[in-house]
Amino acid sequence: MDLLSLARAVKDRAREPVADVLAAARVVTDPRLPLLLVLDRTLFHPLYRASFLAAAAGSGVLRCLAARPCDLESVAERIGAGPADRERLRAWLDAGVRLGELRRKEGCYLLRSRTAKALARVHNDPVAAALEEVLRFHVPALRDAPRMLAQGDRFTLSDQDGLVVARSSLVLRGFVEEAVGRALPRTGPVRLLEIGCGSGTYVRYAAELNPRLTALAVDLQDEVAEQAAKNMAQWGLADRVETRRGDLRTLDLQPQFDLVTLHNNIYYFPVEERAEVLARARSFLAPGGRLLLTSSFRGGSAFGLEVLNLWFELAAFGGPLPREDELLGQVREAGFTDVRASGVVPGQPFRAVTGVNAPAGPVRHRPAARALSPAPQAAEEAAS
Ligand SMILES: C[S@@+](CC[C@H](N)C(=O)[O-])C[C@H]1O[C@@H](n2cnc3c(N)ncnc32)[C@H](O)[C@@H]1O
Repeated sequence: MDLLSLARAVKDRAREPVADVLAAARVVTDPRLPLLLVLDRTLFHPLYRASFLAAAAGSGVLRCLAARPCDLESVAERIGAGPADRERLRAWLDAGVRLGELRRKEGCYLLRSRTAKALARVHNDPVAAALEEVLRFHVPALRDAPRMLAQGDRFTLSDQDGLVVARSSLVLRGFVEEAVGRALPRTGPVRLLEIGCGSGTYVRYAAELNPRLTALAVDLQDEVAEQAAKNMAQWGLADRVETRRGDLRTLDLQPQFDLVTLHNNIYYFPVEERAEVLARARSFLAPGGRLLLTSSFRGGSAFGLEVLNLWFELAAFGGPLPREDELLGQVREAGFTDVRASGVVPGQPFRAVTGVNAPAGPVRHRPAARALSPAPQAAEEAAS
């Protein structure tokens, strides 16, 4: 029995006669014990809960148990666990019961905690995905930074799960939709190009605001673009929105768009290349077309943004979250005029940056093939 379990056993039996008084005295006077008990309550237990809930949400187990009580067989079927792994699955579910997230009734598992029930709700999916993102990507950045730095390791795009990130990004939905609502003409035909569309939610929002809008939505990652295309079909937008895999750095498009949008992805590009990729985005705009770029910026108080920043500092691609002055300078350097940044909600480090492709604006960027380093996915493919 480890020290912590022994201490707990003694604590739990405090009102009963203690058989071995000397052993108990040795345990409770161990100078390490107070610290261990404090850490157990303040660090270990929340981490266990967060890990269990992230896995239960990500595997679909929370949704399954929210719909109806499920026995071991049904949960195994839901997650695709084979017959040989039934007891291992039971051990994991029982850990969820011990943590207070699940309960067991008549051979079935049900949700117990308010957090588990809330995370299972469809409209809270971005929050469930954010929890998964914290556990799967943020924790490794904090945990592995010293080792990665010692060994010269860097995160690559395959260390992210594009589908999880596409869902978790939607925690910013209120901010982005507000910015889209401010920038988008509500009447008349508008041709939108969305770069790094993720789930496609903001293209859908724009299409709802302007019934004459048509769009091309691209995303660098195959599985993300495929899911976005499925979403467009499901939302009845397949005839107005073309969705495909595409990399801003190698896209070959005519200057035909009225609006080009980049939401929450400028940090996927290194700082020194941002002016260049923005110039590339401008080259797809018709004269007078506009840029709308939204992003979290450095300097906020949310620790999650600090870790996002750290992740990209540790990555082989991209760079830190933008600084406002620096990004505005890059947008101007890309040839945009009338460049502005506006806060969407006062006090929040989230900004919408806009600019105009002035009718006779200068083209200052060099051809992409020479100027830009390969995109993360292309770099990975080339390296493998
Ligand atoms: C954090 S997600 C944001 C998704 C979506 N824009 C949103 O706000 O919900 C960033 C997305 O940008 C995409 N992306 C990154 N670099 C890109 C590039 N060079 N070309 C096209 N898409 C890119 C990523 O694949 C990812 O899906």
